[in-house]
Amino acid sequence: MKILVTGGAGFIGSNFIRYWLKKYSDDEIVNLDKLTYAGHLSTTKDFSGNKNYKFIKGDICDSKIVDQAIEGTDMVVHFAAETHVDRSIVGPKTFILTNFVGTQVLLDAAVSHKVKRFHHVSTDEVFGALPLESTEKFNESTLYNPRSPYSASKAGSDHLVRAYHTTYGLPITITNCSNNFGPYSDPEKFIPRMITDLIDGSPVKIYGDGKHVRDWLYVEDHVRAIDAVLQKGKIGETYLVGGLTEDIPNLEVAKKLLKLFGKDESQIKFVPDRLGHDRRYAVDWSKIEKELGWKPEHNFEEWLVKTVNWYKENDWWWKPLKEEADKLYERTGQK
Ligand code: NAD
Ligand code: TYD
Repeated sequence: MKILVTGGAGFIGSNFIRYWLKKYSDDEIVNLDKLTYAGHLSTTKDFSGNKNYKFIKGDICDSKIVDQAIEGTDMVVHFAAETHVDRSIVGPKTFILTNFVGTQVLLDAAVSHKVKRFHHVSTDEVFGALPLESTEKFNESTLYNPRSPYSASKAGSDHLVRAYHTTYGLPITITNCSNNFGPYSDPEKFIPRMITDLIDGSPVKIYGDGKHVRDWLYVEDHVRAIDAVLQKGKIGETYLVGGLTEDIPNLEVAKKLLKLFGKDESQIKFVPDRLGHDRRYAVDWSKIEKELGWKPEHNFEEWLVKTVNWYKENDWWWKPLKEEADKLYERTGQK
């Protein structure tokens, strides 16, 4: 089997390739990645020498490169995207180009090369925000209501993927997942930003009142969910993927990390809130559990500790990226 992975030099894509090459050691993987500020060869270093792995540097918006990369591919697993909400607020254009137009270019190539599966990796953020005081969760029937340029561009890409299934019969599946944490997550994202700040002796930064709620999933569980969908998922279907946290506010996540570092709450710095900041995400993952037998296996407490240890042991990886993240927050006034 030959798989084209897009965005495999980023956080989740690289974790997917690492997992796949180990589990399905006869399969070939081609990784097409533009190496934006979020993609790094250092992230793929441990598997780049694998004989079944090939890297192509290129943009998914470039139909010529996509056409070459997809040649002979059985499956496409599409991770490549602009992914940071704060960046989408200061510069939405690349989000539309990569997430929407880039997905369309890939879909066209997948149709003309008759790939057997196009799996689209998406986010729970397409559903918008839930009120803090509710117990409601997103499920596969929740109407789309994206509220940031990032989530709107991902919502558009989800619609395109379904349209290509209906119109051209492309065999697609989609997963919409909640917030991931784990190794190789960019220090601009919430949990790795706090961990790397704490390692550097800086305070953690909390947007607004810190009562915003995210559903947290360890990255390997997300990768296992994609594997389950690729093996057993029904063509044309969408599966929601979420974690084991029960409405944990950002401030509580920060306090857990401060405790792990032996620091007190004086190390919390409240910074200006994100524009249009979604209040709460919660995911009902019962469909994928019932139909495909997947459920999260990594609990938040234990794997947060392991994630902290990974960042402590791998500063060679994140130190060179921290400056770029700091530059963003200088620009947004959230430093
Ligand atoms: P990331 O930002 O860490 O990595 C994105 C990768 O895509 C990078 O390697 C980058 O170089 C590459 N890329 C960007 N634009 C490209 C282009 N035009 N052409 C080719 N490559 C390009 O992202 P991530 O956190 O690993 O997210 C991967 C996917 O999972 C995204 O589609 C995202 O929407 C989705 N997702 C992420 C999360 C999360 O918590 N991180 C949660 C749910 C869904
Ligand atoms: P983030 O990791 O950017 O993911 P998303 O916004 O896509 O869910 O942020 C997670 C939450 O943490 C979100 O509510 C914004 C908040 N946040 C902070 O409070 N401080 C920070 O420094 C960052 C980066 C995020």
